This record gives sequence, structure tokens and C-alpha cells, in this order.
Amino acid sequence: KSRMIMDVDTGIDDALALLFAVKSGDIQLEGITTVFGNVSVEQATQNTLQVLELAGAPADIPVAVGAGRPLFREWLGPVEHIHGDNGIGGYKLPAPKRKPIEEHAADFIVRKVNEHKQELTLVFVGRLTNLAIALAKDPSIAQKVKRLVLMGGALRVPGNVTPVSEANIWGDPEAAHRVFESGMPITMVGLDVTMKTILREEHVEQMKRQASADDEPMVSFVEQILEYYFKAYEEHNGFYGSPLHDPMAVAVAVDPSLVETEDHLIKIETKGALSAGATLGDLRRARAVTNASVCVRVDSERFINKFIDVLAGNPSL
Ligand code: BDR
Ligand code: CA
Repeated sequence: KSRMIMDVDTGIDDALALLFAVKSGDIQLEGITTVFGNVSVEQATQNTLQVLELAGAPADIPVAVGAGRPLFREWLGPVEHIHGDNGIGGYKLPAPKRKPIEEHAADFIVRKVNEHKQELTLVFVGRLTNLAIALAKDPSIAQKVKRLVLMGGALRVPGNVTPVSEANIWGDPEAAHRVFESGMPITMVGLDVTMKTILREEHVEQMKRQASADDEPMVSFVEQILEYYFKAYEEHNGFYGSPLHDPMAVAVAVDPSLVETEDHLIKIETKGALSAGATLGDLRRARAVTNASVCVRVDSERFINKFIDVLAGNPSL
């Protein structure tokens, strides 16, 4: 099993990523850290605890609360038009019994990476703020993680918040800059691949057919948050469907054969008036020194089937 820490800003696709991670038989979740982004860090934490409970995750998985705003910028507020006012499309889940731990997310990451040297995969599917803070506290963790797999960035495709920037990088460019300069082995799962894997109504139907009756509460949650997300994407992006941004980062962390990568020297734009948060690679020529494996192609069909199978409770199919 892969030992993993996930960092989430639990909105809709983060919730799907959490369900996928908990229900996949291949992952040992060492903990979850939370961050502002789609919603406030408080709301992200609440949603995370609720989704873990819904998924039937072991009650002792630590959840550590992290940053409530970017390193040097103001936080511009929740992304309600995509994720709803509570981050999960307005869906009301029962109050969680579990509570977050006292330790800050950044301290938790530093401690766990040192405890499991070269064994821990970090999967970040929100702003990189908690990791930048952890690196400031203990730069040596860059050499001790097995790998960072992050959902974020866009190399050869447009952004989704600005013409050139993807939300997770745009939302704290200075944090992303520090992470990309840290020397940590990075796999970038960006819009180049996530926009090519679109979940549609027929996939939800397939999941419902495959799931057992015991999974009804989870299936109905997934169905309803996806319906919200489908509509939001129709209104703002012109297609009725859901890119599997955050779940794909989890899947790639466990099974890198789902994607093809290219190694690049990725620089984060932190100064641009129009381009802050851009992930710039040199597309003219290969560089001798690189800092990230960028996913450029994905086997969408295999990934979507895996996603449906895991959520429907047949992870080994
Ligand atoms: C990313 O931004 C967030 O809204 C999603 O949860 C995902 O992590 C996609 O750009
Ligand atoms: Ca996210």
C-alpha cells in the first residue's frame, strides 16, 4: 500500500478525491491536512471530516488544520459559483463525530515525513500553502518525501481562473514557487490531463448500477454534488460534465501508468499583472535540469472506469 498524506480544500472534486482514496484498497492514509481555497479552511475541515465519515474511513485518520490564507496575499473568498456556498454543492451531511487534531498541518507534514523517510507520498489538491510553510520550517523534507503529486498548473493548455493560470497555483503563487524550487520530486497533474477526463451522466448511472445497497448514502451524495458540478461547468465552461481534477492526482500517485509525463523546468510566475500563477515550462527545447514531471497524456477511459469501480466498491476490478 502507498503511504499517503492528502492536502485538500474540500470542495466537490476534493470530496470525490477523498472518497476515492478511502475506498481504494491501495492507499494507507497517514493523515489529511486542510487549507483555504474552494472554501475557508474551517469549512474545508468540516467538509473533510464529514466526507471521511460518509466514506467509513477509520476514525483515527488524523485531520490537521492548515493555512487560512495565502502566504503574502489576501484571500479573495470562496469559489461559490463552482462548489456551492458550503463547498459541496449545498449538500447537508450529518455533523461529524471526529475532530481535527491540535497540531498545525505544516507541523504534521514535517513530523510525518521525518517519521517515514522516503516512504510518504504527498498528494496536494489545493493551494500549496501548507507545504511551503512546512518547507520553511524544515527544508530537508524536500529530500525525504517519496514524491509530491499535485493537482495544479497548466503547461500547454489555457488556465481556468485567468487565461494562463490554474486555480491551485493562482491561489498562492508564492507558495507554489517555493515548492517548485525546493528540489522535491514533483509530478504535476494539471489541466493538460484533468480537462481530458470528463465524468458524465452516463458514468454516474454506471456507478449507481454497480454500487451495493449499503453504499446508498455515499452514492446519493456523489450523485447530487456531481449534478451541482455538472451544472456549474455547463454555465461557466460550456459543457455538462465534471473534470476529475483532484481524484486524478490520487490515482496517478498510486498508478503512474495512467499518464505519460514530460520532464520540465517549471517556473511559477509570481510578478505578472496578468499572469500570476502561470506554470511556465520551456517548450522550445529540453532542459538539462528539470524540477517536475508534467502529465501530458492520460488514459481517460481506464481512469474513469477505475474511479467508478472504486466508488462503487469494487476496487480490484
Ligand atoms: C482545482 O481547483 C479547485 O477548484 C479544484 O478543487 C481543483 O483542485 C482545479 O483547478
Ligand atoms: Ca481542490
